[in-house]
Amino acid sequence: MQQEHLDDHPDASMAQALEQARTDLALTQRETIQAIFKTMESRDAYTAGHQKQVALIAAAIAEELGLSADDIQSIYLAGLVHDIGKIAIPSEILTKPSRLTHIEMQLVQQHAQIGYEILKDVPFPWPIAEMVHQHHERMDGSGYPQKLSGDEICIGARILAVADTIESMAFHRPYRVALGLKAAMDVIRACAGKELDQSVAQATLRVMGELQTLDKLLERKF
Ligand SMILES: [Fe+2]
Repeated sequence: MQQEHLDDHPDASMAQALEQARTDLALTQRETIQAIFKTMESRDAYTAGHQKQVALIAAAIAEELGLSADDIQSIYLAGLVHDIGKIAIPSEILTKPSRLTHIEMQLVQQHAQIGYEILKDVPFPWPIAEMVHQHHERMDGSGYPQKLSGDEICIGARILAVADTIESMAFHRPYRVALGLKAAMDVIRACAGKELDQSVAQATLRVMGELQTLDKLLERKF
């Protein structure tokens, strides 16, 4: 009697088809985020470059924390579009070469909520919209827009907060020159367990605490 091959079993082939459909859907969603990123890049190359670097720094931290490949991927993708809400902020404010006024700052801060509104109805298998919404929240409740604290902030947003801080300090800003990686690490050390998540900050210091530059890390592909 011929032994039935596992792949010939209807349940096995259905499971295979389902797995393939899941893989295809994940690929489509990944490409959708890449398309949003490219759209933003054509409008505002500066913000897009910042997002790409934050995404790569965040992915390296997520890896050091031992998160799953799927979680690392989702944090990378959220990083790529985390400032999508800035599309609604006048570019004169985003590129203003001097400090922002209080009113301008309030306007810029709306980008976290706007980004969430743009992404919230897309059925991504990952909490992309939540990460975007929460990336300016702080562990001690001093962030925005919802003034969340501690465990109310998802892990992806806690990682993006650290990555955003590093990128903002290590690189040039329209209103100031780059402060450098060492200065960024000093801030991560000082804010660990206060504004920034303790374990995320520690993982960051392990991965890049001794680096002179982020060049190698920013060449990686995810
Ligand atoms: Fe932001």
